[in-house]
This record gives sequence, structure tokens and C-alpha cells, in this order.
Amino acid sequence: MVGPKAYIHLNRLIQNYRVIKKHLGDSPIMAVVKANGYGHGAVACAKALEEEGCRFFAVFTIDEALELRQGGIQSDILIFSRMQNDFLAEAIDQNIILNMSGLDDFELLNEFYTQSGESPLFHLKIDTGMSRLGIPFEDAGKVLKTLSENPHLKCEGIYSHYATADEGELNYAEWQLEQFNLVLSLAKEMGIEFKYRHFSNSGSVLNLPNSTFDIVRIGMILYGAFPSDEVPMDIDIKPVMEFRGPIVETRRVKAGTKVSYGGIWESDKDTTIGVIQTGFADGFPRPWYDGGYVIYKGKPYPIAGRVCMDQFMVDFGDGQVAVGDEVLIFGENGNDSLHMEEIAQQIQTTPYVLATGIHGRTKRVYLNK
Ligand SMILES: Cc1ncc(COP(=O)(O)O)c(C=O)c1O
Repeated sequence: MVGPKAYIHLNRLIQNYRVIKKHLGDSPIMAVVKANGYGHGAVACAKALEEEGCRFFAVFTIDEALELRQGGIQSDILIFSRMQNDFLAEAIDQNIILNMSGLDDFELLNEFYTQSGESPLFHLKIDTGMSRLGIPFEDAGKVLKTLSENPHLKCEGIYSHYATADEGELNYAEWQLEQFNLVLSLAKEMGIEFKYRHFSNSGSVLNLPNSTFDIVRIGMILYGAFPSDEVPMDIDIKPVMEFRGPIVETRRVKAGTKVSYGGIWESDKDTTIGVIQTGFADGFPRPWYDGGYVIYKGKPYPIAGRVCMDQFMVDFGDGQVAVGDEVLIFGENGNDSLHMEEIAQQIQTTPYVLATGIHGRTKRVYLNK
């Protein structure tokens, strides 16, 4: 079917996994496949990684975890969202690990335990400075004490999340790491042992090698993009997604022809305009028309005028263009290369937004299964 396609190079996902694992001295990896695997398809990516030996996955919601289980994923799955009473039983049934991130979660688990005699597995999240979910650092002592007084509750891990690990200035991230280490020391003093301690995300894999702990919890670099332009880009990762749109029409236009909504783009010479069947409703980053371009047969061609919901136009100049061919919007294949990071930088967004924005009618095509 004609339309936008996200070609997912599963071999590159595996290659990135291997490269990162080597970089980490063989540390286990928890692959973050939330938001449909950052737009790459959660089940397909998790399956490929599980076959490669990955034994830990993380998602945000219980539904995302259930989708992985239904897709045949057998490994550990941690969910990052707040635990809710209405999915505790299902979490036990499907062996899904929950996130303990508030003092009141103990009440929830104890109430459930009183009724059912069971506890789901969970990891304790400490807020060391992100100020999102997590037990505030100041309450860590209280929570650890509560944990030691409730041995029937099945806590398997402890973790925290960096706010600034992908930035050039690392003082705040280093301070977060100190906070986390203090909590770990306190737990040790209290005789509490955690099977898994984890903190590192993509930014800290590149920037803070001393926060590897027992598992490294990463998303972005597995998918082959750097989280920001402030990290050392010294690992050889390749973009897993190749986002393309088909040329569905071409026409010669005269100099001075206005193209697309608002008529803000005007050809400065006679030229060939191609219509690409991909729009912002499919995940095309709309602001990228201003100075933006696509790659066709190894060469860049400017986007002509505003991006529409379903289509956008390209100024092919006097180049030879064939209806039915596809242009590269971002990704890499042979001579065609335009990385998400470049677009993200130009339009002041992040590769996370671009990758997870792939939706609508974009069809995912899995290569090298
Ligand atoms: C709690 C948590 N851990 C790990 C990650 C993975 O981060 P990254 O994709 O930068 O590796 C995320 C992503 O947002 C997250 O929310």
C-alpha cells in the first residue's frame, strides 16, 4: 500500500545492543520499550532483543507490559507508572514488576496482601532530583525501615532516574548519583539487600560510567540515536528506523509558483515539485519545513512550503524523479543518510519526540528479522 513507511532494521538494534554491552563491560541491559518501543514497535523489538539474550524490559503502563506478554515476551518486565490497586492481581498473574514510588504504595500492597496473601514484585524508586515519581530522598530512611518491617512484600530492586545525564555540565547528575549511593549505604547498614540496583540511562552510559550498578536501563541509544549533542558520541550505534515517504506526483512549475498552505514558499526558478504522501498526522515533524530537506538517491532536496496533514512537497529542481520512489525523511540506508539528531537540533526538539511521534498511517516494515 502506498504511504509512509518506517523500515525497522532489527539487525541494527541487535548490533547496537552488542556494541553498548561491550562498551559497558558486559553489564546486563534493561531495554526500555515504552511508547511502542520509542515508535519502533515494542513487541518486535523486544522479541529481537530477547532472542539476543536481553532478560529485562521496561515499559510505562500495565497495558504496554501486557502487550509484551501477549507477544510472547517471557523476560522480566518492569513498569514505570504508579502502581494502582486495579492491576495488582494482573501483575502477579502475568509476572510483571511494579514501581513502588510513594509511601502510600505500602498501604496499597499491605491491603492487597491481607485480602489475597500475595504480593506483586516491585522495585523501589528513589527520587534523587528528577522530582517526578519516586520516594523523596529525605524519606528514604523511613521507607527502608518500612520495607524491613514488611518482609512479605516482594521488593527485588531499587532505582533512580537522572534529570541531566545527557548534558555537558554534569554537576547535578553527579550529585544525584551521590544521593543514590547514600541511600544504598543506608540500606546496607540496615541489612537490606536488593537483587537489582539500577540508575543509568542513555545519557549516563555515555557520560557517567560509574553509575552502571547491576543493570543499565536504556532506550534511545539502543534505537541508534544519541540523546543530545552534549554527550560523547564515541560508540558506534546505527539508526534502527528509516522513515520514508513515497513520491505520488510530480509537476513542472514556473518561477514564482507558490506551494502549500499560506503560500509562504515560492519557487525562484522553473522547477519540479514532488508531492510526498506523508504528513504531520503520520509523524512527520511539521516545523522541519523551514530549512528542512529530504534525501533522494543520496542527495538533499529542500522541502517546499508548509507540511500538510497527509502530504508535503519537495523542490526537486531539474533532478530526475520517479513517481513511486520513496524519499528518506530520516534514518540511514546506503548513500541516503539524514539522522534524527540533525532534525531535532534544527527544530529544537529531541530524537525522543521524533521517534515516538511516528504514528498515524505510517506502516512499520521489519527488516532482517
Ligand atoms: C525511568 C526511565 N528510565 C530509563 C529511561 C530510558 O532513557 P533513555 O532513552 O534516555 O535511555 C527512561 C526514558 O525516558 C525513563 O523514563
